[in-house]
Amino acid sequence: MITGASSGIGKGLSLEIAARGGRLGLIARREDVLNEIVGEIRAQNGTAIAVSADVRDANAMKQAADRVRAELGPIDVLIANAGVGTTDHINRLDPQQVADVININVLGAVNSVAAVLPEMVERKSGQLVAIASLAGYRGLPKSAAYSASKAALSSFFESLRIDLRHTGVTVSIIYPGFIKTPLTSGRQAKMPYLMELDNGVKKILSAIEKGKKSYAFPWQLATIVRSSLLMPPSLYDWIAERNSFRE
Ligand SMILES: NC(=O)c1ccc[n+]([C@@H]2O[C@H](COP(=O)([O-])OP(=O)(O)OC[C@H]3O[C@@H](n4cnc5c(N)ncnc54)[C@H](OP(=O)(O)O)[C@@H]3O)[C@@H](O)[C@H]2O)c1
Repeated sequence: MITGASSGIGKGLSLEIAARGGRLGLIARREDVLNEIVGEIRAQNGTAIAVSADVRDANAMKQAADRVRAELGPIDVLIANAGVGTTDHINRLDPQQVADVININVLGAVNSVAAVLPEMVERKSGQLVAIASLAGYRGLPKSAAYSASKAALSSFFESLRIDLRHTGVTVSIIYPGFIKTPLTSGRQAKMPYLMELDNGVKKILSAIEKGKKSYAFPWQLATIVRSSLLMPPSLYDWIAERNSFRE
């Protein structure tokens, strides 16, 4: 079951998983777009169903998971991928916009997990995958809500990973850098090591298949971001201010 399957990374993962023989429950709000993707998958003899649901609605997510299980069988892997990005400016901070980002990127993933986890624990088998971001390692300029949401998302899944040890359910946290999707397409700012969607999808799938606990890529940007954790605040602020990825 994959959330945010109607666009970008979620759509790319869905098409690639279907091509490898996976049976998919595709979740997003835009049903018409999901149905087109299901049509594309079935035309290649793949198996997929579309379920329109908003990840912010816990009941809708439970119903969506029930439908996926009823039509396709037990859910082996959840990919919590649905997410939105925003640009935040300190002179027009909008609490509602911040709440929307947290609701979708964090609580949406929580609702997705809650819809599948009890049955995975009962079966002693399953994999929870979070599509976090390198933007969650430290606060990025003009990205307060997005960075905060991805930091919360990765911490939530990290805690789950520990709590789920010895249950048969594993957790994989993926930290992508910049990938060409509708989420990044409108930006004028230069995004270092920007990846083609196909390349990003293959890297994410390989990490999921290997059951990696954590996977940050591309390695060049992941190394820079990880080393920034060791920088004192004044040095980090000086560098980050000169490297805004949002206009
Ligand atoms: N692209 C990058 O550079 C990049 C880098 C790091 C991490 N990521 C993360 O990767 C994930 C996918 O991003 P993307 O680049 O593929 O973006 P995208 O092309 O804009 O796709 C976002 C997906 O999320 C779904 N979605 C948004 N709000 C939703 C809601 N309330 N309920 C259900 N589905 C919802 C959208 O579907 P509907 O509109 O149909 O609901 C869409 O399928 C996000 O979590 C993003 O933060 C992206």
